[in-house]
Amino acid sequence: MNPTIPPRPESPAASARPDAALPARRDAQMSACTGASAPADTGPPCVAASAARRAALRTALGGAALAGAIPLRPAFADDPADARPQVGDWLVLATDEDATKAVTADAVASNCKPLHVFPVDPATKTIRNGSRFNKIALVRVDPAALDGDAAQRAAGGVLAYSAVCTHQGCDVTEWNDKAGTLLCFCHFSQFDPKDKGQVAAGPASKALPWLPLRIDGGKLVVAAGFSAKPGPAKPA
Ligand code: FES
Repeated sequence: MNPTIPPRPESPAASARPDAALPARRDAQMSACTGASAPADTGPPCVAASAARRAALRTALGGAALAGAIPLRPAFADDPADARPQVGDWLVLATDEDATKAVTADAVASNCKPLHVFPVDPATKTIRNGSRFNKIALVRVDPAALDGDAAQRAAGGVLAYSAVCTHQGCDVTEWNDKAGTLLCFCHFSQFDPKDKGQVAAGPASKALPWLPLRIDGGKLVVAAGFSAKPGPAKPA
């Protein structure tokens, strides 16, 4: 008998596949900063590679759990790893498992592709990486270019947004330097970080939720929760 492992409900939709025509548009609009760190060829964007790695990891973890090696962890709402960012949380790189390596504003390059981080519960030092909806995209802009709402929720010129595209849930990984927008490779949606994450281009219909920041002891710290529920907009 082959037990079936249901897919995690938070995974990007199966239809969230990068558009095959995107590499040419990517090269035309991507920032020099992004281009310097992106693959040189026109192969699949990094988000596709990330999705493949996540799928492989889920398969491996699921198989191990079925074999009794490790338990599958249900997404309990009171699990600090699954809870959404809380006031006072500091931030660590999404690739880092050391909860003490708090990200500072200086770690975020100006006008460059977003830095992905997860919040950390300061009480338990738990990295809240139990849900990909907790992944945060940090971008840094000239503070003088910010006004009103954006200036209030920025810290050292750093603005924080959900890293999960509101179109079909891919990670928002890129930066369009010409437009000054966050960019999702999957279907090329763009979001304006200086204007509440509003959709600037592409098929997304919902703004990226933002997360107010402040600086505490040199660290970037969460000042309030997400402005809206992260993730794709529900179909109309
Ligand atoms: S998932 Fe379609 S543009 Fe981001």
